[in-house]
Amino acid sequence: MFQSVLSAGLFKRATDHNLVRINIHNIRDYTHDRHHTVDDYPYGGGAGMVLKPEPVFEAVEAVKSDIQQNEGVDKVPVILLTPQGRLFSQAIAQELSQQSHLILICGHYEGVDERVAEHLATDQISIGDYVLSGGELAAMIVAEAVIRLVPGVLGSAESAIDDSHAAGLLEYPQYTRPEVFRGWAVPEVLLSGNHAQIARWRRQQAIARTQERRSDLLDKVELSPEDKKLVDRLQQSG
Ligand code: 6GU
Repeated sequence: MFQSVLSAGLFKRATDHNLVRINIHNIRDYTHDRHHTVDDYPYGGGAGMVLKPEPVFEAVEAVKSDIQQNEGVDKVPVILLTPQGRLFSQAIAQELSQQSHLILICGHYEGVDERVAEHLATDQISIGDYVLSGGELAAMIVAEAVIRLVPGVLGSAESAIDDSHAAGLLEYPQYTRPEVFRGWAVPEVLLSGNHAQIARWRRQQAIARTQERRSDLLDKVELSPEDKKLVDRLQQSG
């Protein structure tokens, strides 16, 4: 499941250039019974299976002490991917990208023994208000969002500064050639060569589109007096 994702695109580039290292660990390798049992029935009854605490603790503790001994790192964040975690965001990606090491635990089955959340994880993250059966895809999403913020992973030409959400706004619309496609023309201003005017247009577009699609974001973002005038105008006309 991880191999195809990790061997392409941004993951491949980042690991090929030794900017990040990603290690996948199978908690089944940390079981001691013949059947490599990682799950069991829930106490109290109910549907589904629950991930047992022992292999998860053993796997994380082995990885953690390896990092501590070989890399001289004291505290390593241990993040449990779970729909019950704090909602993942660009701000959290920024925060995690400052860490030298991260341990991500992919929850699976119908649940993970609560003692993992309580006594092993230092953080719990959800990637959105919907349910996935496994935390693997969630872990890859968190990893991709974090890794692209690691210095050197993105070329300067593709810097993350203008990204949607980087400044708390959705990104402005982008166009490339042809200038007219099926009768739909690229906005005049982008062809003008007037960089101040283009910057102003893009800012307006970013604000207008955030207002229209994600007005919840606008309450949290810092707006200049000129930005505020635009928001007011948009609210009146809209
Ligand atoms: Cl992190 N895991 C699972 N299993 N489902 C999710 C999730 C995580 N975030 C949203 N849904």
